[in-house]
Amino acid sequence: MTTLWHGRFDHNPDDAMWALNASIGFDIRLAEQDVRGSLAWAAALKDAGVLTPEEHTRISEGLQAILAECRAGDFASQPGDEDIHTAVERRLGEFIGPLAGKLHTGRSRNDQVATDFRLWLLDALPKLQSAIRDLQAALVEKAETHLPPPSGGRAGEGVGGEVMPGYTHLQRAQPILLSHWFLSHFWPLQRDRERLADLRPRLATLPLGCGALSGTPYPVDRTALTNALGFDAPAPNSLDAVSDRDFAAEFLFAAALTGVHLSKLAEQVILYSSAEFGFFTLDDAFSTGSSLMPQKKNPDPFELARGKSGRLVGYLTGLLTTIKGLPSAYDKDLQEDKEPVFAAYDTLTALLPVLAGAIRTLTVNAERMESALDDFMLATDLADYLVGRGIPFREAHALVGQAVRRALETGIPLGALPLEEYRAVHPIFDESVYAVFDPRQSVARRKAIGGTAPEAVKAQIRLAKSKIAHQKS
Ligand code: ARG
Repeated sequence: MTTLWHGRFDHNPDDAMWALNASIGFDIRLAEQDVRGSLAWAAALKDAGVLTPEEHTRISEGLQAILAECRAGDFASQPGDEDIHTAVERRLGEFIGPLAGKLHTGRSRNDQVATDFRLWLLDALPKLQSAIRDLQAALVEKAETHLPPPSGGRAGEGVGGEVMPGYTHLQRAQPILLSHWFLSHFWPLQRDRERLADLRPRLATLPLGCGALSGTPYPVDRTALTNALGFDAPAPNSLDAVSDRDFAAEFLFAAALTGVHLSKLAEQVILYSSAEFGFFTLDDAFSTGSSLMPQKKNPDPFELARGKSGRLVGYLTGLLTTIKGLPSAYDKDLQEDKEPVFAAYDTLTALLPVLAGAIRTLTVNAERMESALDDFMLATDLADYLVGRGIPFREAHALVGQAVRRALETGIPLGALPLEEYRAVHPIFDESVYAVFDPRQSVARRKAIGGTAPEAVKAQIRLAKSKIAHQKS
């Protein structure tokens, strides 16, 4: 076996040590980025006078041939390849002979791997952003479908306008539009997408040209390299450049938080599609059955979303723990950076399209949803009724509390409590109190920006659509 560093060694690495040390098993995913980085480096070496134009041409042609193999899915590692950088250099030698050995002049695998990894993430981000965007689109579509029809028709007479209980502490709180609920899961995803876009300036900082740790002794134009590779700026400090994995940690934080958002959405869908709630029915295509209990229909995609969020959080804490306490510049610990990033990306890009499909196809059981509404959910509106008659809110709250207590004691719904009961609480009550007990009126009153009134939700949908008109964020 010939390693890139065999010169000072007497004999080969132990087999188990080799297996532990080699990263080719996972960093093969960086093949294309490694070749693109090398093409830019070869051009920089030519401009610095290190390679002759002829040498540069031959090296570039060899690298282009490898790039074509990568893109065709034909690039393969061999058992002696320690990592992707070794594999590409070995393959270049197979194409152009010993001249391949000039490519690594003035470069280290330390600045090389940091460059490859950043390039990979720059390539990967738009795919993840678009998968998030599609789930956002599914939520907006649902919100729009379930808006009240223009006639103001009620649920049960076709789709649209469904009012459901809004919960706090998982206790019935106030009525909301179902559309509003769908959109409540749109905005966290919008923030996730913006967070990924915000990574760009720190991610697109170029380590190449920083050498092993102290910089490169050749007159390489790092600004030209930056432009050639589509980065924003060259890293300003070579020691920092080869050790900086903040971009990976930031990505993993964004991925973990996306996972947490998906988990929260999932938990609610799981709950709402249980027999006890019965608000949603999942499509067969996005459910599974039981090997034993013939009646079962399980919300597996949502349970997997909830479950995988744990791993996504773990990837972040794992990397932060790896980075913490590293002494200086590159340390082999940093080889541990790639697997969590790949895994987080793979997890989310597998999950998001399934959730989008499951949301698009779920059906809403309007009657179940509406039958979960009760008069107590309008207690706040009742307090507002008193406020409208000049009673300070704090006092109104206490008076309605007494009415609630009467309703609980007598078992009579708040909206059916006799007028004398109300008047015993406060003489200001009159017949008009019964008009309060209409959940649609309650919803309609909340028309300030961000509220659940149909017109506010329509404005919210317009804003949401303008957000997803942007590919990235
Ligand atoms: N496989 C290594 C990694 O992923 C590449 C850098 C190796 N550098 C070194 N000095 N051994 O981090």
